[in-house]
Amino acid sequence: MNKPSRHGETHIEEWDEHHPGFPTLMVFIHREGQSEWATFKADWHQSSHLLVARRGQALMGFLRFAIQPIGPDADCPPIQFQGNNLLEAKVLAFAVDKAYRRQGIGRKLQEALIQRAQALGCHQIRSHSGGDQLANHHLKLALGYGIHPIVRGADKRGAYFILPLSAVKSPQPHRKVRGPTKRGT
Ligand SMILES: CC(C)(COP(=O)(O)OP(=O)(O)OC[C@H]1O[C@@H](n2cnc3c(N)ncnc32)[C@H](O)[C@@H]1OP(=O)(O)O)[C@@H](O)C(=O)NCCC(=O)NCCS
Repeated sequence: MNKPSRHGETHIEEWDEHHPGFPTLMVFIHREGQSEWATFKADWHQSSHLLVARRGQALMGFLRFAIQPIGPDADCPPIQFQGNNLLEAKVLAFAVDKAYRRQGIGRKLQEALIQRAQALGCHQIRSHSGGDQLANHHLKLALGYGIHPIVRGADKRGAYFILPLSAVKSPQPHRKVRGPTKRGT
C-alpha cells in the first residue's frame, strides 16, 4: 500500500514494462481493480501508453491509453479525413489512489494525456465511464470534454466522453458574432 505523502513534487512519467517500478505499478493497478483494462490488447491498437503519477517512490495514479483509428472498436470502418484515417487516444484505465484524491493528480494525468495525444497526431481523446464513476464524470466535464450518454446493460447513467484536440490546440481568432439588430438583419 502506498504511504500517503502530502509533500514533494508530483511527477507524471510514461513507463513501459522495462521500468524497474513496473511490477509495483501492476500491483497498484490490480488493487484498483483495473488489471484487465491495463493489459487489454486489440488488433486495432497502434500503440499503448501508460502514464504514471508519482511523488518520490510513492505511486499515486495511472492512466493507460491506446492509439487507434476511430471506428474499428465500434465495428465501423475507420473514419477518414483528407485521405487519412483519423486517430484517437482511447483511455482504457485511469485511477488515483484513494489517499491522494482531490489533490489535482487526476487532472495532471489528463493534462499529460492531452499533450501526448497531440504529439502522437490524434484527432480526439475518448473514454467510457460507468454511471457510478461520478468523480470521473465531474473531472471530464470540468476539463471540457463533450458527453454522449449510453446505455450498457443495466447501466443507464454511463457515458462516452470525447475531447476534440483540434479545438484545444488551434483556437482560431474569430470575429465577434453580432446579435440580432433592431432591423432584424
Ligand atoms: C476519477 C479520479 C481519477 C479523479 O482523480 P483525482 O486526482 O481525485 O481528481 P482531481 O483532484 O484532479 O480533480 C479534478 C477535478 O475533478 C472533479 N472531481 C474530482 N473528484 C470529484 C468528486 N469526488 N466529486 C466531484 N468532483 C470531482 C473536480 O472538478 C476537481 O476539481 P476541484 O478539486 O478543483 O474541484 C479518481 O476519483 C478515481 O481514481 N476514481 C476511481 C476510479 C475511476 O473512476 N476511474 C475512472 C474510470 S476507469
